[in-house]
Amino acid sequence: MAQKILVTGVAGLLGSHFSTYLLDKGYTVFGIDNLSGGYLDYVDKRLIKDKQFYKIDLIDQKALEKIFKKCKPDYVYHFAAYAAEGLSPFIRNFNYTNNLLCSVNVINNCIKYDVQKIIFTSSMAVYGHGKPPFKESQVPLPVDPYGIAKYTVEMDLKQAYDQFGLKYSIVRPHNVIGIQQNIWDKYRNVIGIWIKKTLAGENIGIFGDGTQKRAFSDIQFCMEPFEKLMHTADCDTFNIGADTEYEIGKIASLVRKIAQEFGYDPKIEHLESRHEVKDAYCHHAKAKKILGFKDHTDIETTIREMFVWAKKQPVRKSKNMQYEVSKNVYSFWK
Ligand SMILES: NC(=O)c1ccc[n+]([C@@H]2O[C@H](COP(=O)([O-])OP(=O)(O)OC[C@H]3O[C@@H](n4cnc5c(N)ncnc54)[C@H](O)[C@@H]3O)[C@@H](O)[C@H]2O)c1
Repeated sequence: MAQKILVTGVAGLLGSHFSTYLLDKGYTVFGIDNLSGGYLDYVDKRLIKDKQFYKIDLIDQKALEKIFKKCKPDYVYHFAAYAAEGLSPFIRNFNYTNNLLCSVNVINNCIKYDVQKIIFTSSMAVYGHGKPPFKESQVPLPVDPYGIAKYTVEMDLKQAYDQFGLKYSIVRPHNVIGIQQNIWDKYRNVIGIWIKKTLAGENIGIFGDGTQKRAFSDIQFCMEPFEKLMHTADCDTFNIGADTEYEIGKIASLVRKIAQEFGYDPKIEHLESRHEVKDAYCHHAKAKKILGFKDHTDIETTIREMFVWAKKQPVRKSKNMQYEVSKNVYSFWK
């Protein structure tokens, strides 16, 4: 019998791609999403047709438990989160509710319903100001509420294993890009924001001088290692993502160059600097060795594919978050 996999955040970038990958491989998939950051259009049609997509908020303990009771998943991939790292100090309560307490609800049910293993997407935000390329052996020291929530869930998973034997693996992906990314959210996904702005005839904005470094990772190379985690590397943690880091300013120029191929000519403007880790990228030797991870990201090709896709998307509304603390909110978010 096909193994049953529950994917949270199934309408988002990672969840939508991974659920399609699993369905193509013959797994039975159930998906949860509250559509706060993902879109119904991106949920695999097979899940909707088979009534295996559940629109619930993970904070709703009753609704969540009902799904576990009914679906009895063998494995859970917990992708759902609001990954707006830079915004998280201004929405602390929302951040901890959505990224920590919702994860706790998922973990509780994994324990109660004897899930064989939970795979959790943490983030390189847990490394804070550590020296890049970050290695899994570095002691995490997150510097913002988003990273703190992620690291807290990591520690909670260890506790759940120690006391209840719930197996887990942790993935720390970074700057994943691809089609079906939310490009309408002004608070996260920098390349997506630039593509959306270009299509709207607006400028490409860089926070600060643009010398900060990131490595952008094509989503397609995450699929196989994610799948392998079901059956290997219990209680272990892996960085997954592209090997090559670039200055953000260089990526902005690349986006502009590709935009020009499509007939757009966005200007690049420098905005106020953000409170952020300057250089953040990871070392992937462990995932390569244990999970057979291979990074073949060709950033130019991926951005071009995103442009082709984005041009065909409906115009979607950008949401304005309700700040819990508006003190020192950056000018570009006011
Ligand atoms: N994309 C990246 O570069 C990246 C990097 C590091 C870590 N991650 C982590 O990977 C995971 C997936 O990221 P993504 O880029 O696919 O994000 P995403 O925003 O595209 O997808 C997350 C999905 O979770 C859903 N969701 C959020 N809160 C929910 C809730 N309370 N109940 C139900 N559904 C909820 C959203 O509607 C969305 O569809 C997240 O946990 C994120 O923190 C992503």
